[in-house]
Amino acid sequence: MTHQVLDPVTPVTRAGAVEVSPVAGRIGAEVCSVRLSGELDGRTVAELRRALLRHKVLFFRGQYHLDAAGQAAFARLLGTPAAALPAPDGAWHADASYAERPPGFAVLRAVEVPAYGGDTVWANTVAAYDDLPVELRELADRLWVLHSDELTAGGGDAARAEHPLVRVHPETGERALLLGGFARSVVGLSTEADSEALIRLFQERVTRLENTVRWRWAPGDVAVWDNRATQHRVVHDFPAGARRLHLTAVEGEAPLAVDGRRGVPLP
Ligand SMILES: [Fe+2]
Repeated sequence: MTHQVLDPVTPVTRAGAVEVSPVAGRIGAEVCSVRLSGELDGRTVAELRRALLRHKVLFFRGQYHLDAAGQAAFARLLGTPAAALPAPDGAWHADASYAERPPGFAVLRAVEVPAYGGDTVWANTVAAYDDLPVELRELADRLWVLHSDELTAGGGDAARAEHPLVRVHPETGERALLLGGFARSVVGLSTEADSEALIRLFQERVTRLENTVRWRWAPGDVAVWDNRATQHRVVHDFPAGARRLHLTAVEGEAPLAVDGRRGVPLP
């Protein structure tokens, strides 16, 4: 595959009912003029999905009407509901990357947010891959990584899976780096030091500021992201208890490797 270059992004694009304004250069766009619900028409849903695949995370302001049921109904327009799963506290991650099939999309609604602080930051894992020099892309294409939730499982049985470091997106065909806080080791390496060094090398590419967008939450805000093309983390600069967000996840697929194999669960 050739190195992918995104189309130049125009400041505001309008397609039917959906108006999309990029928030940052490589990831994130705000959508105006859409009232989220389970009642959106098929054309609007298709436009939102297209914008989501392109911008990786979409932000909606002023969705005060939305409650948990309405949020779930909207999420069902994107796919089958999936169990919401715990996140590593404050660390960069892709949701539930330790699962055989990590969620495809996530919908996060501000219920109670601090006046300032507690932002969420997302990173574009496709841009991170595309930015790699060819020698590192070729190495990344071959590597597999063990993901585990042992740090968040709270004494229960840890869930584990082996996934390709580079996953081919099922809808766009883009290649994305799959790492984050649940990534434990590179499969086949005999020393922990080698494993850590390689994971750090690629993870640092993901979280470069140029690949990120930071969102300052206000009441009524909703963020929707493609968990197959992003990582995210919260910024821990707010008082305990001052921030409540409601998450709804949508099922995804077992990550597809460049060579056609898929991620597998481990016992
Ligand atoms: Fe998360």
